[in-house]
Amino acid sequence: MVRVICIVNQKGGVGKTTTAVNLAVGLARSGAQTLLVDLDPQCNATSGLGGRAIAEHPILGSIPLRTGVVATSIRNLAILPGSHRIREIDSQAELTSPAFALLCTRLLAVSAGYDFVLYDCPPSAGGLSRLALATATEVLIPIECEYYAMEGLTQLIALVREVVGTLESPTLESSEILLTKYDLSVDLTREVEEEIASHFGPILSGTIIPRDVALAEAPSHGLSVLDYAPRSRGARAYVELCMEVLDRE
Ligand SMILES: Nc1ncnc2c1ncn2[C@@H]1O[C@H](COP(=O)(O)OP(=O)(O)OP(=O)(O)O)[C@@H](O)[C@H]1O
Ligand SMILES: [Mg+2]
Repeated sequence: MVRVICIVNQKGGVGKTTTAVNLAVGLARSGAQTLLVDLDPQCNATSGLGGRAIAEHPILGSIPLRTGVVATSIRNLAILPGSHRIREIDSQAELTSPAFALLCTRLLAVSAGYDFVLYDCPPSAGGLSRLALATATEVLIPIECEYYAMEGLTQLIALVREVVGTLESPTLESSEILLTKYDLSVDLTREVEEEIASHFGPILSGTIIPRDVALAEAPSHGLSVLDYAPRSRGARAYVELCMEVLDRE
């Protein structure tokens, strides 16, 4: 069975794309057939892997989404590049509309034949994130340990419940929270971490992603951190996350 992992948080800049790209590369390297779907009109996951955004996205038309899938330079890793135009879908957030159901069916069809499909979501709780949540088997929520983290997390968990509660046949099996940009020299880090652990301990990932400049530099070279700086703390943390994900099978 394909595992569809939705990397989501309506809050911006928390490490969604960094997690999507590096986890996708790690899983592909382990031998798993992996597809990265860039569902963000910013198209950062596409450019982060050295690709280019597409003008016309198949999800906006009627041709199968697999026609947009391209191979990457990494073995076992394909990508459905993003398009600035998929912004249109973000305003279609009505979960019960026939148009939304059709989008779900079309998106689900692209996952056939893969071991893993990873969605990189935009920083919004609109149609694109809802579409991703409605078709995923797992949710991975990157969180930065800062003042508003808990508030955002509570809203996001409510959104996940709303999406799952509205669907006739929900696909979602598990959710996980991933602490990112973790930096103990920042005063609030430990406090926020403890608060998240006390409310969401059972779904908190054992892996913590440290703040590491290598993670910020890698996309400017069109590379994952595993290729750009394999010995960096950031790369090691994403390898650990990968093993955690693979172990869950
Ligand atoms: N662990 C980290 N250490 C240092 N820099 C990081 C780390 N994770 C991400 N960054 C950097 O922080 C910025 C935001 O990260 P990223 O783009 O992954 O977040 P995002 O949640 O996808 O953002 P958006 O909501 O805009 O899509 C980027 O410049 C990225 O390179
Ligand atoms: Mg992003």
